[in-house]
Amino acid sequence: MRPLPEAQRRRRRPLVGVVETAGRGTRARGDPRVAALLRAALERGSEPETRSLTHGFHAYPARMHPAIARHLVATTPADAIILDPFAGSGTVLVEAAAHGRRAIGVDANPLAVRLARLKTSRWSHGDLERLIAHARALARRASGRAAAQRGTRLPGFDPRTFAPHVFRELHFLRAEIERGPDPAIREALWLVLSAIAVKVSLRVADTSELEAPKRLAAGFVSRHFARKAEELARGLGDLARAIPEGTPGPEVIEGDARDLPLPPRARIGRVITSPPYPGIYDYVAHHALRIELLGIDARRFSEVEIGARRRSQASGALETWRNDLGRVARSLERHLEPGGLAIFLIGDGIAGGQRVRGDESLTNACSGTGLEVRAVAWQSRPSRSRLERAVHGPTKNEYLIALSARARPSGGST
Ligand SMILES: C[S@@+](CC[C@H](N)C(=O)[O-])C[C@H]1O[C@@H](n2cnc3c(N)ncnc32)[C@H](O)[C@@H]1O
Repeated sequence: MRPLPEAQRRRRRPLVGVVETAGRGTRARGDPRVAALLRAALERGSEPETRSLTHGFHAYPARMHPAIARHLVATTPADAIILDPFAGSGTVLVEAAAHGRRAIGVDANPLAVRLARLKTSRWSHGDLERLIAHARALARRASGRAAAQRGTRLPGFDPRTFAPHVFRELHFLRAEIERGPDPAIREALWLVLSAIAVKVSLRVADTSELEAPKRLAAGFVSRHFARKAEELARGLGDLARAIPEGTPGPEVIEGDARDLPLPPRARIGRVITSPPYPGIYDYVAHHALRIELLGIDARRFSEVEIGARRRSQASGALETWRNDLGRVARSLERHLEPGGLAIFLIGDGIAGGQRVRGDESLTNACSGTGLEVRAVAWQSRPSRSRLERAVHGPTKNEYLIALSARARPSGGST
C-alpha cells in the first residue's frame, strides 16, 4: 500500500494510544472498547426503520434511529440514570422505558415535550379501548359537522396551507377534542391531530416549504384521524407490555439544555442524545403548522433554539453553535457520574454556506470544558435536502461521539 501524504496522515491521526478500525462501512477511532460500542450502535442504524412501540406515531425531523437508541440503552449499566438533553420526540426515552431504565428527557420545544410524554406514557388495556372508542365517535361527529357546513368559510382559513374541506374537518376535530371529558384522552388526541396535520396539508413535508396539491376526499381527514388514534393505541399497548414491572416513567422536562433544569445533586450515568446539527433544521419553522393547529406558544423556544437554519447565514453562526454546545457540555459535566459516558449522535452541518464537520465542531465545542472525546465512530449517509446536496455533495457523515470526564493531571491537588 502506498503511504499517505503527510497532510492526509495528520488529518486521519487516531486519538492518542488508540486504534482506528473499519467494518461494514463504519469507521471508528479512540478507546477500543468505547469505539466498538459506538460502531456497533451506528451499524444498527442501517437496519430498516422500525415502527415498533410508539416510535412511528409522529414524524420528527432528525429523529434518532430507534435501533441506535436501543443499542445504546441496552448497553448502559442497569442502575444508571439515562439523560437525553435534546429529547425531541422521545426515541431514547421510549427505549429506556422498554428496557426498564430510569430516564430523564429535556427539550426546549413544547411540542416535543408533549409528544415524548405521550409516547412514553403507560396505559391500561381499558384506557386504550376508551381512547379508540372516543376517537372513532369524535371523528364521525366532526365529519358530519363538516359536511353540514359545506361551502362555509371558517375563521383562520389559509388557502396556502389546507384545502377548504380539509380545514373544515380539522376545525371540527379540534372543537370535538376540546369538548372531550378526560384530560389524558384529550392530550393524546391533540397529538393525533398533530401527527396527521402535515399529511393532510398542502405541504410536502415538515422540512419542506414546497406545496403539493393533494386530492383528499371529503371525510378522509376524520377517517385518517381515527386510524392514527388506533395506531397510537396499538403502540402504547405494545409499550405497556414491554415495560418491566416497577419501571418509573421517564421525567420529561421543557427546558434549555445549556442550563439543564435538573436538581444540583442529580447524577446521570449515561447521556444518549442527538443535538441540533448546525444550520440544517429549523424546528420552529418545521413545526409552524402543528404549533398553530394546537395553539402552542413557541416564543420562548424560538429564542433558545440552538443551531437553527434561519440563523445559519449570520456571521459567527458556527461560533454561536460551538458556544451553545460548550455550555451544554459544562452543564452535563456537573451531573455525569465518574466513569459515565455522554454519547452524541451528530451529522455534518452547514454554516455560512460551508460544510461543517460534525466531529470537529463537537470536539472544538467541548475543548475548555471538563469533557473530552473518548471515541468516535462514523458512517457516510446520503444527503437528503437540496441544500445538503449543494454543500456536502451526494453524501455526508454521521458520527457517534462518546465523551467522558477529562482525566485530571496526576500529582495536582483536586
Ligand atoms: C436532532 S433533534 C433530537 C431528536 C430526537 N433524538 C428524536 O429522536 O426525536 C434536536 C432537538 O433539540 C431541540 N433543541 C433545540 N434547541 C434546544 C435547547 N436550547 N435546549 C433543549 N433542546 C433544544 C429541538 O427541539 C430538537 O428536538
